[in-house]
Amino acid sequence: MFKTIRDFDVSKKDVFLRLDLNVPIKDGKIKDDSRILAALPTINYLLERGCKIVACSHLGRPKGGASPEFSLSPVAQRLQELLKENRVIFANDVVGEDAQKKFSELKASEVLLLENVRFEPGETKGDEELAKKFRKFGEIYVTDAFGSLHRAHSSVYQTPKLFDVVLAGFLVEKEIIYLKEKLQSPERPYIAILGGAKVSDKIPVLKGLVEKVDGMIIGGAMAYTFLSSKGVGVGNSLIEKECYDVAKEIMKRAEERNIPFLLPIDHISAKSIDDTEVKVMETIAEGYSGFDIGPKTIALFKNEIMKAKTIVWNGPLGVFEKEQFKNGTVLIAKALADCSSLKIVGGGDSVSAIKVAGVENKITHISTGGGASLELIAGEKLPGVEILYEKGS
Ligand code: 3PG
Repeated sequence: MFKTIRDFDVSKKDVFLRLDLNVPIKDGKIKDDSRILAALPTINYLLERGCKIVACSHLGRPKGGASPEFSLSPVAQRLQELLKENRVIFANDVVGEDAQKKFSELKASEVLLLENVRFEPGETKGDEELAKKFRKFGEIYVTDAFGSLHRAHSSVYQTPKLFDVVLAGFLVEKEIIYLKEKLQSPERPYIAILGGAKVSDKIPVLKGLVEKVDGMIIGGAMAYTFLSSKGVGVGNSLIEKECYDVAKEIMKRAEERNIPFLLPIDHISAKSIDDTEVKVMETIAEGYSGFDIGPKTIALFKNEIMKAKTIVWNGPLGVFEKEQFKNGTVLIAKALADCSSLKIVGGGDSVSAIKVAGVENKITHISTGGGASLELIAGEKLPGVEILYEKGS
């Protein structure tokens, strides 16, 4: 088992806290602060106990060092607004002079937020030298960075290795309980609904998942790669041909295991994503692309959902950000809300879709992780989770 901040006397400790504050920011404004809000229970718990917190996170995927558009400065401001009573200090670098000076001046119950850890080239390489620098910022290591635990990065994996005390925050604890422990022996039938556009990112993970579930439903852009790999015409829809072999392998395994593997049987199609003149097509014609699932598919998917006792959902079933293509995702979200099964939704886009459908209160667990949640559900070993168990035993 792993240890949490409840299992150790954290009072007055210097805490190095890895968070996932990778929030969408446009023109310096935070578009969705859910991940900051999700980190608050842990931050407040530590502050109430007089800890000095050095917090860090990545933001986006900056290439080639520091750049203002990827700065965590707006996040520091938002955190200060949310914490009100406790001072949040922002370091203009990660492990440089500014961070060190501000750390030396840090007082009990204050937070020092370091600049985006990915401004350090060693972060994504899992650099040990960088980890040694992080090590100096705390006596104990706490992680609440659930969305990043699948990355073997320096602040996620190398740094905790250097600490004797490695603890999970409340968010990570909750995520692991739902996505790992509750799904170890799920109530059956257990089904997975998968969609979204990042096919090559997600498809390898589905190989593990197809062995665990009693049914798989595929929608969204991902479906076109599966359909096309079977020789079904998908017009000009988005496909990733390099994923054909894995797609076929997954479908073969579903067949061998004799579990339902549902793909869309009709589509809301248009000539382009901005086109508001849409057509329902069973086979997508040349010149058209599929952007949402059609009415027959919705009925087919709903029927399977209603039979399930455990459901995991990752990735929207259409371009739900566009009015003309949101129906499929919204109606499936509502179907999920209506059934009494254990329902777990992960991935930034699926979470937004759940909010668009207005059913967030009817979902058992909404994960803050995208890739991390899918990998954990599929039974993969996540570096940031493994180290927690290792240090907790
Ligand atoms: C996410 O948004 O899924 C996490 O913050 C991880 O981000 P990454 O895919 O850039 O590592």
